[in-house]
Amino acid sequence: MKVTVIGAGTMGRGIAQVFAQAGNQVILSDVYEKALDTALKEIRKSLDKLHAKGLIKESPDTVMARIKTTMDLKEGTGSEVFVEAVLERFDIKEKLYGQLNELAGNNSLIASNTSSISINALSAAIRRPENFIGLHFFNPVPVMKLVEIIRGERTSEETLKRSLDIVKNLGKDPVTSKDFPGFISNRILMPLIREATLTLEQGVATKEDIDKTLKLGMNHPMGPLELADFIGLDVVYDIMRVLYAEFGDPRFMPPVTLRNLVSSGKLGRKNGEGFYRY
Ligand code: 3HC
Repeated sequence: MKVTVIGAGTMGRGIAQVFAQAGNQVILSDVYEKALDTALKEIRKSLDKLHAKGLIKESPDTVMARIKTTMDLKEGTGSEVFVEAVLERFDIKEKLYGQLNELAGNNSLIASNTSSISINALSAAIRRPENFIGLHFFNPVPVMKLVEIIRGERTSEETLKRSLDIVKNLGKDPVTSKDFPGFISNRILMPLIREATLTLEQGVATKEDIDKTLKLGMNHPMGPLELADFIGLDVVYDIMRVLYAEFGDPRFMPPVTLRNLVSSGKLGRKNGEGFYRY
């Protein structure tokens, strides 16, 4: 089937890759040419790794040939599925949905990869909200098995069923959540990262020992501070702020240490420094 992924950042390019690996024709669209170039390079690197390990049977060339990058969203016309993975800003998503309303057919499924914005709130900008759903992927998308499916009040049973099939077809394992702040994953993950940050802030232990505790004591692949750097401290901070605003509960209140790192431009792995230096 034809699938259009909008937004070629870390998540969008990973999503485009897994759809292509599953045999779909993918249009990957972004407003920045540089993002599209980087996306193709990163997808290639990831496919080479997976192929070398025998995790994908097809050659990376074959999979790459199914991905077309473009700055012209109209090339997505006629797609059965649209996955939006643009910046986590309501106004940007809302504006984009206005364009998607023109391109999507009556039966096109429109999914958002949002991690913290309400699916119900976003659905107000969609002409056929019954075809709209949240598909929340995890970084790195080609490796992480989970997709969180978020059903809005107006999402149809048919759209939920189609989404479950799509996710399984990608070789992923879905969970379904109601549209509640943070859904399942970030509602549980953010307090963990927050508590780890407060443990550091209060001088209880070093960052290394905090991370080591979760890695060796609970078998997490990364400690919470390392994971926060991996996700991006700006992203973590924004999600916490949304959760704190919506629940009004101090267990989601962003720690000052996190605010200071973000406001001083230390965003984690992506720009070389966060809790750790890279
Ligand atoms: N494509 C293909 N393969 C990849 C890859 C990619 N993009 N990224 C990593 N890999 C492979 C590596 O090649 C490696 O393979 P190997 O074991 O055969 O050598 C394997 O994955 C492990 O990678 P590394 O050896 O580099 O390092 P790690 O063992 O530390 O694994 C990791 C990396 C998979 C990222 C692991 O540390 C991990 O699972 N971390 C937790 C990630 C996580 O929790 N993600 C979710 C974040 S929350 C989110 O995304 C939601 C949002 O809303 C906040």
